[in-house]
Amino acid sequence: MAEPTGYSELEALTARVARIPTLDAAALEAEHIALLGRKQGAITELLKRLPQLPLEQRKDFGAKVNQLKLLAETLIAERRADLEADRKRQSEAVDLTMPPRRRWIGAEHPVARVIDDLLGIFRELGFAIAVGPEVETEWLNFGALNFPPDHPALDLHDTVYLDAPPIDEPPRGGRLLLRTHTSPVQIRVMLTSAPPIRVVIPGMCYRNDPFDPSHAPAFSQIEGLAVDEGISFVDLKATLTQFARRFFGPGTKVRFRPSFFPFTEPSAEMDVECQLCHGSGCPACKGTGWMEILGSGMVHPTVIANGGLDPERYTGFAWGMGPHRIALLRYGVPDIRLFYEGDMRFLEQFVPGGQAGGRAGGQASA
Ligand code: DAH
Repeated sequence: MAEPTGYSELEALTARVARIPTLDAAALEAEHIALLGRKQGAITELLKRLPQLPLEQRKDFGAKVNQLKLLAETLIAERRADLEADRKRQSEAVDLTMPPRRRWIGAEHPVARVIDDLLGIFRELGFAIAVGPEVETEWLNFGALNFPPDHPALDLHDTVYLDAPPIDEPPRGGRLLLRTHTSPVQIRVMLTSAPPIRVVIPGMCYRNDPFDPSHAPAFSQIEGLAVDEGISFVDLKATLTQFARRFFGPGTKVRFRPSFFPFTEPSAEMDVECQLCHGSGCPACKGTGWMEILGSGMVHPTVIANGGLDPERYTGFAWGMGPHRIALLRYGVPDIRLFYEGDMRFLEQFVPGGQAGGRAGGQASA
Protein backbone atom coordinates (compact mmCIF):
# COMPACT_ATOMS: atom_id res chain seq x y z
CA MET A 1 0.00 0.00 0.00
CA ALA A 2 1.64 3.15 -1.23
CA GLU A 3 -0.64 5.43 0.66
CA PRO A 4 -2.72 3.68 3.25
CA THR A 5 -3.90 6.81 5.04
CA GLY A 6 -5.42 8.63 1.99
CA TYR A 7 -3.42 11.84 2.20
CA SER A 8 -3.66 12.35 -1.58
CA GLU A 9 -7.45 11.96 -1.45
CA LEU A 10 -7.47 14.52 1.33
CA GLU A 11 -5.52 16.91 -0.87
CA ALA A 12 -7.91 16.48 -3.81
CA LEU A 13 -10.89 17.02 -1.52
CA THR A 14 -9.30 20.17 -0.07
CA ALA A 15 -9.12 21.60 -3.61
CA ARG A 16 -12.81 20.79 -4.20
CA VAL A 17 -13.79 22.42 -0.92
CA ALA A 18 -11.87 25.55 -1.97
CA ARG A 19 -14.11 25.87 -5.02
CA ILE A 20 -17.36 25.89 -2.99
CA PRO A 21 -17.64 29.76 -3.03
CA THR A 22 -17.82 29.70 -6.88
CA LEU A 23 -20.69 27.22 -7.20
CA ASP A 24 -24.21 28.14 -8.30
CA ALA A 25 -27.20 27.04 -6.26
CA ALA A 26 -27.77 23.66 -7.97
CA ALA A 27 -24.07 22.72 -8.02
CA LEU A 28 -23.79 23.75 -4.37
CA GLU A 29 -26.52 21.37 -3.24
CA ALA A 30 -25.02 18.51 -5.32
CA GLU A 31 -21.58 19.16 -3.88
CA HIS A 32 -23.02 19.20 -0.35
CA ILE A 33 -24.26 15.64 -0.82
CA ALA A 34 -21.15 14.52 -2.71
CA LEU A 35 -18.85 15.72 0.07
CA LEU A 36 -20.80 15.38 3.29
CA GLY A 37 -23.67 13.00 2.45
CA ARG A 38 -24.09 10.50 5.25
CA LYS A 39 -23.91 7.48 2.98
CA GLN A 40 -21.59 8.28 0.09
CA GLY A 41 -20.06 11.65 0.94
CA ALA A 42 -16.34 11.70 0.07
CA ILE A 43 -15.34 13.34 3.36
CA THR A 44 -17.69 11.06 5.27
CA GLU A 45 -15.96 8.07 3.65
CA LEU A 46 -12.56 9.24 4.88
CA LEU A 47 -13.92 9.59 8.39
CA LYS A 48 -15.37 6.12 8.25
CA ARG A 49 -11.95 4.72 7.41
CA LEU A 50 -10.30 6.22 10.49
CA PRO A 51 -10.81 3.20 12.83
CA GLN A 52 -8.80 0.98 10.48
CA LEU A 53 -5.72 3.22 10.64
CA PRO A 54 -2.79 2.61 12.94
CA LEU A 55 -3.18 4.65 16.07
CA GLU A 56 -0.27 7.03 15.44
CA GLN A 57 -1.64 8.04 12.01
CA ARG A 58 -5.24 8.16 13.12
CA LYS A 59 -4.63 11.23 15.29
CA ASP A 60 -2.99 13.41 12.63
CA PHE A 61 -5.11 12.27 9.67
CA GLY A 62 -8.31 12.33 11.71
CA ALA A 63 -7.67 15.89 12.82
CA LYS A 64 -7.07 17.01 9.18
CA VAL A 65 -10.22 15.31 7.84
CA ASN A 66 -12.30 16.81 10.62
CA GLN A 67 -10.89 20.26 9.88
CA LEU A 68 -11.79 19.84 6.20
CA LYS A 69 -15.29 18.71 7.14
CA LEU A 70 -15.78 21.82 9.28
CA LEU A 71 -14.41 24.06 6.55
CA ALA A 72 -16.72 22.45 3.96
CA GLU A 73 -19.74 22.94 6.24
CA THR A 74 -18.87 26.58 6.88
CA LEU A 75 -18.24 27.40 3.20
CA ILE A 76 -21.47 25.70 2.12
CA ALA A 77 -23.48 27.62 4.71
CA GLU A 78 -21.87 30.92 3.67
CA ARG A 79 -22.39 30.27 -0.03
CA ARG A 80 -26.04 29.43 0.57
CA ALA A 81 -26.55 32.72 2.41
CA ASP A 82 -24.82 34.71 -0.38
CA LEU A 83 -26.89 33.10 -3.12
CA GLU A 84 -30.09 33.75 -1.19
CA ALA A 85 -29.17 37.40 -0.67
CA ASP A 86 -28.44 37.81 -4.40
CA ARG A 87 -31.76 36.28 -5.29
CA LYS A 88 -33.59 38.64 -2.97
CA ARG A 89 -31.79 41.71 -4.22
CA GLN A 90 -32.54 40.86 -7.83
CA SER A 91 -36.21 40.18 -7.27
CA GLU A 92 -36.56 43.52 -5.52
CA ALA A 93 -34.67 45.49 -8.21
CA VAL A 94 -36.70 44.31 -11.19
CA ASP A 95 -40.37 43.96 -10.44
CA LEU A 96 -41.71 42.77 -13.77
CA THR A 97 -45.29 43.05 -12.55
CA MET A 98 -45.11 46.83 -12.08
CA PRO A 99 -47.04 48.81 -14.72
CA PRO A 100 -44.79 51.11 -16.78
CA ARG A 101 -44.73 54.78 -15.91
CA ARG A 102 -46.16 57.10 -18.59
CA ARG A 103 -43.84 59.74 -19.84
CA TRP A 104 -45.72 63.05 -20.07
CA ILE A 105 -44.71 65.67 -22.56
CA GLY A 106 -45.97 69.08 -21.56
CA ALA A 107 -47.90 71.24 -24.01
CA GLU A 108 -49.49 74.66 -24.10
CA HIS A 109 -53.13 74.85 -23.10
CA PRO A 110 -55.20 75.39 -26.28
CA VAL A 111 -56.42 78.79 -25.07
CA ALA A 112 -52.84 79.86 -24.25
CA ARG A 113 -51.83 78.81 -27.74
CA VAL A 114 -54.64 80.87 -29.30
CA ILE A 115 -53.56 83.90 -27.23
CA ASP A 116 -49.93 83.47 -28.34
CA ASP A 117 -50.94 83.12 -31.98
CA LEU A 118 -53.20 86.19 -31.84
CA LEU A 119 -50.55 88.32 -30.15
CA GLY A 120 -47.96 87.07 -32.66
CA ILE A 121 -50.07 88.17 -35.61
CA PHE A 122 -50.69 91.63 -34.15
CA ARG A 123 -47.03 91.95 -33.29
CA GLU A 124 -46.25 91.51 -37.00
CA LEU A 125 -48.86 94.17 -37.75
CA GLY A 126 -47.00 96.61 -35.49
CA PHE A 127 -48.88 96.26 -32.17
CA ALA A 128 -47.02 96.21 -28.84
CA ILE A 129 -48.40 94.42 -25.78
CA ALA A 130 -49.85 96.35 -22.83
CA VAL A 131 -51.44 95.02 -19.66
CA GLY A 132 -53.55 96.40 -16.83
CA PRO A 133 -54.82 95.25 -13.44
CA GLU A 134 -57.73 92.85 -13.00
CA VAL A 135 -59.04 94.98 -10.14
CA GLU A 136 -60.26 98.25 -11.65
CA THR A 137 -62.08 101.36 -10.56
CA GLU A 138 -65.65 101.98 -11.62
CA TRP A 139 -64.41 105.03 -13.48
CA LEU A 140 -61.91 103.22 -15.68
CA ASN A 141 -64.12 100.16 -16.23
CA PHE A 142 -67.24 102.19 -17.07
CA GLY A 143 -67.28 105.98 -16.75
CA ALA A 144 -64.17 106.79 -18.76
CA LEU A 145 -65.43 104.44 -21.46
CA ASN A 146 -68.53 106.56 -21.85
CA PHE A 147 -71.01 104.25 -20.16
CA PRO A 148 -73.63 106.69 -18.81
CA PRO A 149 -74.67 105.86 -15.21
CA ASP A 150 -77.57 103.37 -15.23
CA HIS A 151 -77.17 102.66 -18.93
CA PRO A 152 -78.69 99.28 -19.93
CA ALA A 153 -75.28 98.26 -21.34
CA LEU A 154 -74.17 97.99 -17.70
CA ASP A 155 -76.53 95.05 -17.18
CA LEU A 156 -74.25 92.88 -19.31
CA HIS A 157 -71.31 93.88 -17.14
CA ASP A 158 -72.39 92.85 -13.64
CA THR A 159 -69.37 91.79 -11.62
CA VAL A 160 -67.85 91.37 -8.17
CA TYR A 161 -67.31 94.59 -6.20
CA LEU A 162 -64.51 94.57 -3.64
CA ASP A 163 -65.27 95.23 -0.02
CA ALA A 164 -62.65 98.00 0.09
CA PRO A 165 -62.77 101.78 0.42
CA PRO A 166 -63.44 103.54 -2.94
CA ILE A 167 -60.55 105.28 -4.70
CA ASP A 168 -60.87 109.12 -4.89
CA GLU A 169 -64.23 110.72 -5.40
CA PRO A 170 -66.67 109.62 -8.07
CA PRO A 171 -66.77 109.85 -11.02
CA ARG A 172 -62.99 109.57 -11.44
CA GLY A 173 -62.23 106.73 -9.07
CA GLY A 174 -65.16 105.02 -7.45
CA ARG A 175 -65.60 101.54 -6.07
CA LEU A 176 -63.15 98.76 -6.88
CA LEU A 177 -64.37 95.84 -8.96
CA LEU A 178 -63.13 92.90 -10.97
CA ARG A 179 -62.90 94.33 -14.48
CA THR A 180 -65.57 93.13 -16.89
CA HIS A 181 -63.47 93.74 -20.01
CA THR A 182 -59.95 94.77 -21.00
CA SER A 183 -61.21 98.10 -22.41
CA PRO A 184 -60.21 100.14 -19.29
CA VAL A 185 -56.59 99.51 -20.27
CA GLN A 186 -57.28 101.67 -23.36
CA ILE A 187 -57.60 104.62 -20.98
CA ARG A 188 -54.52 103.62 -18.97
CA VAL A 189 -52.44 103.41 -22.17
CA MET A 190 -53.66 106.76 -23.52
CA LEU A 191 -52.98 108.42 -20.16
CA THR A 192 -49.40 107.15 -20.10
CA SER A 193 -48.21 107.18 -23.72
CA ALA A 194 -48.23 109.58 -26.64
CA PRO A 195 -49.58 108.70 -30.13
CA PRO A 196 -48.92 106.91 -32.37
CA ILE A 197 -50.39 104.19 -30.14
CA ARG A 198 -50.75 100.61 -31.32
CA VAL A 199 -51.28 98.07 -28.54
CA VAL A 200 -52.91 94.73 -27.91
CA ILE A 201 -54.02 94.04 -24.34
CA PRO A 202 -54.47 90.43 -23.19
CA GLY A 203 -55.98 89.58 -19.81
CA MET A 204 -58.65 87.92 -17.71
CA CYS A 205 -62.09 89.50 -17.19
CA TYR A 206 -64.95 88.67 -14.84
CA ARG A 207 -68.71 88.82 -15.11
CA ASN A 208 -71.75 87.59 -13.30
CA ASP A 209 -72.43 85.14 -16.12
CA PRO A 210 -73.62 81.55 -15.87
CA PHE A 211 -71.04 78.80 -16.37
CA ASP A 212 -72.65 77.18 -19.42
CA PRO A 213 -71.47 75.83 -22.81
CA SER A 214 -70.80 79.32 -24.16
CA HIS A 215 -70.21 81.47 -21.02
CA ALA A 216 -67.78 81.50 -18.15
CA PRO A 217 -67.65 83.91 -15.20
CA ALA A 218 -63.88 84.30 -15.75
CA PHE A 219 -62.64 84.53 -19.32
CA SER A 220 -59.84 85.95 -21.42
CA GLN A 221 -60.00 88.95 -23.71
CA ILE A 222 -57.61 90.63 -26.09
CA GLU A 223 -58.25 94.31 -26.58
CA GLY A 224 -56.71 96.28 -29.41
CA LEU A 225 -56.19 100.03 -29.72
CA ALA A 226 -54.69 102.21 -32.43
CA VAL A 227 -54.67 106.00 -31.96
CA ASP A 228 -52.95 108.47 -34.25
CA GLU A 229 -53.63 111.40 -36.53
CA GLY A 230 -55.72 110.49 -39.54
CA ILE A 231 -56.86 107.00 -38.56
CA SER A 232 -60.12 106.04 -40.29
CA PHE A 233 -62.54 103.15 -40.51
CA VAL A 234 -60.51 101.88 -43.49
CA ASP A 235 -57.61 101.18 -41.11
CA LEU A 236 -59.94 99.25 -38.80
CA LYS A 237 -61.33 97.09 -41.61
CA ALA A 238 -57.95 96.49 -43.21
CA THR A 239 -56.23 95.57 -39.94
CA LEU A 240 -58.94 93.22 -38.68
CA THR A 241 -59.48 91.58 -42.08
CA GLN A 242 -55.74 91.02 -42.37
CA PHE A 243 -55.71 89.49 -38.89
CA ALA A 244 -58.61 87.11 -39.71
CA ARG A 245 -56.90 85.89 -42.90
CA ARG A 246 -53.65 85.25 -41.05
CA PHE A 247 -55.36 83.44 -38.21
CA PHE A 248 -58.03 81.43 -40.03
CA GLY A 249 -56.44 81.07 -43.47
CA PRO A 250 -55.79 83.27 -46.54
CA GLY A 251 -59.16 82.96 -48.27
CA THR A 252 -61.27 83.51 -45.12
CA LYS A 253 -64.33 85.71 -45.75
CA VAL A 254 -65.21 88.34 -43.15
CA ARG A 255 -68.11 90.75 -42.75
CA PHE A 256 -68.79 93.77 -40.53
CA ARG A 257 -72.21 94.35 -38.99
CA PRO A 258 -73.28 97.62 -37.36
CA SER A 259 -73.42 97.36 -33.59
CA PHE A 260 -73.36 99.47 -30.44
CA PHE A 261 -70.75 100.03 -27.75
CA PRO A 262 -70.69 103.18 -25.61
CA PHE A 263 -66.95 103.66 -26.21
CA THR A 264 -66.98 103.46 -30.03
CA GLU A 265 -68.81 105.37 -32.75
CA PRO A 266 -69.50 103.91 -35.22
CA SER A 267 -69.34 100.37 -33.85
CA ALA A 268 -69.20 97.08 -35.71
CA GLU A 269 -69.05 93.41 -35.01
CA MET A 270 -66.85 91.29 -37.23
CA ASP A 271 -67.95 87.84 -38.34
CA VAL A 272 -65.80 85.22 -40.04
CA GLU A 273 -67.04 82.49 -42.31
CA CYS A 274 -68.11 79.53 -40.13
CA GLN A 275 -65.03 77.38 -39.61
CA LEU A 276 -67.05 74.18 -39.50
CA CYS A 277 -69.32 74.46 -42.56
CA HIS A 278 -67.39 77.16 -44.48
CA GLY A 279 -70.47 79.22 -45.06
CA SER A 280 -73.11 76.69 -46.01
CA GLY A 281 -74.86 76.80 -42.62
CA CYS A 282 -74.66 74.30 -39.76
CA PRO A 283 -75.86 73.98 -36.14
CA ALA A 284 -72.65 75.62 -34.83
CA CYS A 285 -73.37 78.85 -36.75
CA LYS A 286 -77.13 78.45 -36.32
CA GLY A 287 -77.49 78.07 -40.07
CA THR A 288 -76.09 81.55 -40.86
CA GLY A 289 -72.71 80.47 -42.22
CA TRP A 290 -71.05 83.18 -40.05
CA MET A 291 -69.46 83.29 -36.64
CA GLU A 292 -69.03 86.45 -34.61
CA ILE A 293 -65.48 86.87 -33.34
CA LEU A 294 -65.06 90.43 -32.15
CA GLY A 295 -66.56 93.81 -31.37
CA SER A 296 -64.89 96.93 -32.76
CA GLY A 297 -65.33 100.55 -33.68
CA MET A 298 -63.86 104.02 -33.99
CA VAL A 299 -62.83 105.21 -30.54
CA HIS A 300 -65.49 107.65 -29.26
CA PRO A 301 -64.14 111.24 -29.00
CA THR A 302 -65.18 111.33 -25.34
CA VAL A 303 -63.00 108.27 -24.67
CA ILE A 304 -60.03 109.90 -26.43
CA ALA A 305 -60.56 112.98 -24.25
CA ASN A 306 -60.82 110.81 -21.11
CA GLY A 307 -57.48 109.34 -22.11
CA GLY A 308 -56.01 112.85 -21.94
CA LEU A 309 -55.67 113.26 -25.72
CA ASP A 310 -57.16 115.89 -28.04
CA PRO A 311 -60.07 114.33 -29.97
CA GLU A 312 -59.84 117.13 -32.58
CA ARG A 313 -56.37 115.96 -33.45
CA TYR A 314 -56.46 112.22 -32.84
CA THR A 315 -58.74 109.45 -34.01
CA GLY A 316 -58.44 105.74 -33.43
CA PHE A 317 -60.01 102.34 -33.68
CA ALA A 318 -60.36 99.62 -31.10
CA TRP A 319 -61.60 96.08 -30.82
CA GLY A 320 -62.12 93.37 -28.24
CA MET A 321 -62.19 89.63 -28.70
CA GLY A 322 -62.35 86.52 -26.53
CA PRO A 323 -59.59 83.91 -26.97
CA HIS A 324 -61.69 81.29 -25.16
CA ARG A 325 -64.46 81.82 -27.73
CA ILE A 326 -61.99 81.84 -30.62
CA ALA A 327 -60.47 78.59 -29.35
CA LEU A 328 -63.97 77.05 -29.46
CA LEU A 329 -64.26 78.01 -33.13
CA ARG A 330 -60.73 77.03 -34.06
CA TYR A 331 -60.87 73.56 -32.54
CA GLY A 332 -64.59 72.87 -32.99
CA VAL A 333 -65.01 72.36 -29.23
CA PRO A 334 -68.70 72.25 -28.23
CA ASP A 335 -68.46 73.47 -24.61
CA ILE A 336 -66.28 76.26 -23.21
CA ARG A 337 -66.17 74.56 -19.80
CA LEU A 338 -63.83 71.92 -21.24
CA PHE A 339 -61.13 74.60 -21.33
CA TYR A 340 -61.42 75.11 -17.58
CA GLU A 341 -61.64 71.56 -16.30
CA GLY A 342 -58.04 70.44 -16.75
CA ASP A 343 -59.18 66.96 -17.85
CA MET A 344 -56.10 65.27 -19.33
CA ARG A 345 -58.22 63.21 -21.73
CA PHE A 346 -59.34 66.47 -23.33
CA LEU A 347 -56.05 68.38 -23.11
CA GLU A 348 -53.93 65.51 -24.47
CA GLN A 349 -55.61 65.97 -27.83
CA PHE A 350 -53.87 69.33 -28.23
CA VAL A 351 -50.35 67.97 -27.73
CA PRO A 352 -48.40 68.69 -30.94
CA GLY A 353 -48.08 65.55 -33.04
CA GLY A 354 -51.43 64.21 -31.88
CA GLN A 355 -52.66 62.07 -29.05
CA ALA A 356 -50.38 59.06 -29.46
CA GLY A 357 -47.31 61.06 -30.39
CA GLY A 358 -47.64 63.20 -27.32
CA ARG A 359 -46.05 60.71 -25.03
CA ALA A 360 -43.76 57.76 -25.48
CA GLY A 361 -46.58 55.19 -25.83
CA GLY A 362 -46.49 53.66 -22.39
CA GLN A 363 -42.72 53.28 -22.12
CA ALA A 364 -41.03 53.64 -18.78
CA SER A 365 -38.62 56.52 -18.92
CA ALA A 366 -34.99 55.61 -19.24
N1 DAH B 1 -65.29 95.63 -24.26
C1 DAH B 1 -66.26 94.96 -25.10
C2 DAH B 1 -66.88 93.82 -24.33
O1 DAH B 1 -66.25 93.27 -23.48
C3 DAH B 1 -65.60 94.44 -26.34
C4 DAH B 1 -65.20 95.53 -27.26
C5 DAH B 1 -66.05 95.97 -28.24
C6 DAH B 1 -63.98 96.17 -27.11
C7 DAH B 1 -65.71 96.99 -29.10
C8 DAH B 1 -63.61 97.20 -27.96
C9 DAH B 1 -64.50 97.60 -28.96
O2 DAH B 1 -62.46 97.83 -27.89
O3 DAH B 1 -64.14 98.62 -29.81
O4 DAH B 1 -68.00 93.48 -24.59
